[in-house]
Amino acid sequence: MSVSERLEPPPPPAADEVGAVVLAGVSGCGKSTVGKMVARRLGWAFVDGDDLHPWKNVYSMHHGRALTDADRDPWLERCADLLENHVANGVPVILACSALKSRYRRRLRRDAETLLIHLACSREELIRRLGGRTGHFFDPSLLDSQFAALDPPTPGDGTLLVDGDADMEEVTNDIVRLITRPADRAARLAAQGTGAASALPGGGERW
Ligand SMILES: Nc1ncnc2c1ncn2[C@@H]1O[C@H](COP(=O)(O)OP(=O)(O)O)[C@@H](O)[C@H]1O
Ligand SMILES: [Mg+2]
Repeated sequence: MSVSERLEPPPPPAADEVGAVVLAGVSGCGKSTVGKMVARRLGWAFVDGDDLHPWKNVYSMHHGRALTDADRDPWLERCADLLENHVANGVPVILACSALKSRYRRRLRRDAETLLIHLACSREELIRRLGGRTGHFFDPSLLDSQFAALDPPTPGDGTLLVDGDADMEEVTNDIVRLITRPADRAARLAAQGTGAASALPGGGERW
């Protein structure tokens, strides 16, 4: 366990200065698609965390083998370094990165300018999307392993929840608002205060 994992995470950005955003959630929630749309809208850089995996991990996922914590370790380090470098250089970035466990999220949020946003989707919607996706290395049967690995963000976690089932344009608008308006971030966190899923319309189980 690294030092950064043991430390309490800093609170989510309260002022205007979001310098980096991790767009998190299980496979199929829209991290890559929506992340690019948000980056284009804001004129920010976009990096897909999938591209930071060592080849060993890509190979495992392609062959339906779930990644272990040890597999994810070098990948998380690359992701955290990337966020830190972007913040340090004043080049804001959206990073698509599943960040399924709370300790991964803590590890990625090395500084207060990094905001974590979790795209929460229903199981039915995820299965529908992954069934229709081609040319991607992820085997849809791994979805259950993603659910098993996920620590759903809790109210105290500081991760903002977004309704990932919504129309892509709506999801993009919601995220852009959260990034650019501190008051909207505060309101979302407050709405999440009574339970992780309570901030999302429609209710039901979300991942
Ligand atoms: N809000 C949305 N509504 C409908 N389809 C979506 C939405 N977000 C993503 N998709 C589609 O779902 C599939 C998975 O999205 P993707 O961005 O690859 O997910 P992830 O990067 O989280 O694995 C893609 O075919 C994408 O076009
Ligand atoms: Mg993706």
